[in-house]
Amino acid sequence: MTLPDILKLAPVVPVLIIEDEAQAVPLAKALVAGGLKALEVTLRTPAAINCIRRIAGEVEGGVVGAGTILNAAMRQEAYDAGARFGVSPGLIDGEEFDDGPLPLLPGIATATELMAGLSMGYSYFKLFPANIVGGVGALKAFASPFPQATFCPTGGVSLQNAPDYLALPNVICVGGSWVAPTDAVRAGDWGRITELAREAAGLGR
Ligand code: 3PG
Repeated sequence: MTLPDILKLAPVVPVLIIEDEAQAVPLAKALVAGGLKALEVTLRTPAAINCIRRIAGEVEGGVVGAGTILNAAMRQEAYDAGARFGVSPGLIDGEEFDDGPLPLLPGIATATELMAGLSMGYSYFKLFPANIVGGVGALKAFASPFPQATFCPTGGVSLQNAPDYLALPNVICVGGSWVAPTDAVRAGDWGRITELAREAAGLGR
């Protein structure tokens, strides 16, 4: 699947910080059951790579990606574990766009970073941290000079403000952690997570 195909699977890409490998599969199944199919497991915990491996092998209907990719080695490790897309908070030195097996969604926050990313060959970007760096206003302002760029704003996005982002023509989806709150994950409250996912999957685009 190409990156746009993956980002079009649902209006929201859950951003997951999973501490315990045992939570990975039930959490992913709960999100997929609610209609969120592209899942970003951030490489921020020691369990993350094993979580990706488990989800890739055991969760049907989901596409697992790796978040917080900071360098080429992390990208390769994520791919080897079964990730099928990658997300980075910024542009990764030396990682020009390629059609390779782990398409990357790099983060940008300014026009200069966007121009650097475009010249590296990218056309899909994470606006990060979206709410801090101008949010909807910034994306509207980027639309005219940069018609070739499409965004997945992430960082401070919620059920309440997601519709404002999703209404923009240069937004393909949003990312956010609100669909998998830490307390619900720790408590194994998968029913609540499926409900949150269903609400998010129902957002218009
Ligand atoms: C992150 O990388 O942590 C994401 O931007 C998630 O941000 P959020 O917790 O504000 O949704």
